[in-house]
Amino acid sequence: PPLTSIINLYDFELAFAKFGSRKSHAYISSASNDLLTLQANAAHWHKLWFRPRVLRNVSTVSTRTRLLGLDVSMPVWIAPMGMGKTGGPEAEAALGAGAAAAGIVHCLSTPASLSVEETLASAPGHPWFFQLYVNRDRAKTEAALAKLARHRDQVKALFVTADLPVMSKREADDRIRVTEQTVLPLPDSTGATIAATEGRGGLARTTGSFIDSSFTWECLPWLRRCTDLPLFVKGVQTAADARAALEAGCAGIVVSNHGGRALDNASSTVLVLLELRRDCPEVFERMDILVDGGVRRGSDVLKAFCLGARGVGVGRPFQCAISYGKEGVAHCANILREELETAMRLCGVTDINSVWGNMAYLNTSELD
Ligand code: FNR
Repeated sequence: PPLTSIINLYDFELAFAKFGSRKSHAYISSASNDLLTLQANAAHWHKLWFRPRVLRNVSTVSTRTRLLGLDVSMPVWIAPMGMGKTGGPEAEAALGAGAAAAGIVHCLSTPASLSVEETLASAPGHPWFFQLYVNRDRAKTEAALAKLARHRDQVKALFVTADLPVMSKREADDRIRVTEQTVLPLPDSTGATIAATEGRGGLARTTGSFIDSSFTWECLPWLRRCTDLPLFVKGVQTAADARAALEAGCAGIVVSNHGGRALDNASSTVLVLLELRRDCPEVFERMDILVDGGVRRGSDVLKAFCLGARGVGVGRPFQCAISYGKEGVAHCANILREELETAMRLCGVTDINSVWGNMAYLNTSELD
């Protein structure tokens, strides 16, 4: 379908399901086991109801804010996703250029299809975040971080993914074998080969085997010595771990369950945000709390911002939008921004920054 017929984020996923390769679609859309966390992520955004204020002048509205000190058009960032080529040939370059066109930031993943240099060249001067899976060969991670240090003008933060110490079971992906025809080459950063996939179909399984499952909080000082980038722990799911990140001196956390792709039956990220507000409200003041998982509407972004998230990551729809190139990616972001503006106006909010952490706009009783 032409890009003009795509009017919401679901349309990108539906178009990809119909016209993308079966293997790529299985990789992008899949989640762990029974898909319970995948479904809860979305369902719980839907259970947060608004408490709009009326008769306010909403003729002009601003979604602009600061995210990790960067000026952005709205509190949305593109979540890190492996193998951009599963979305389309332009891969991460489409995400970067599209993000820059829409005034948001892309978090580049460790198992990306393109190199850091190729990706950053898609939008010279534009800021990026970088996602790190720690390699069980620590020297490889040290080398990757040393390389990243050369791009300090563009790379602004490091997100260390903590919720996937071992590969999860994603059956849709596992059922279709990786072949020579699969979106190849497999990213260098993963060390994965076709030969190694013998008998195990999953693209995620194949490319995730380098992840160090012995990496702990005690290893963060080592990481600290390898990079001077602000550190975020991605995949925090409890108040206890949010406090641990604060005590470890992290700049922030990403409340995330990997879009339901890690532990199935992990709490939705909405429930985790509510837990943090209840059990460690101080973390919202002392770190940047980001969130991702199941966000598909501008109204979800408004909800997350009211809950105290500084920025909201969106994954799968952007990976599917790569099939339309950078215009598709920018269109995906612009749809979200227009929806956010409309939701703000209908809630009686003119400046997004005025409602950060303000629960007065939300009715959470269905989740209490
Ligand atoms: C991911 N995610 C992910 N996370 C990460 O830290 N490193 C990675 O390499 C990947 N790779 C990846 C690939 C694909 C295809 C998807 C869909 C997801 C998780 C991602 O960053 C994010 O947490 C979720 O995708 C957010 O959920 P939604 O928006 O997809 O529902």
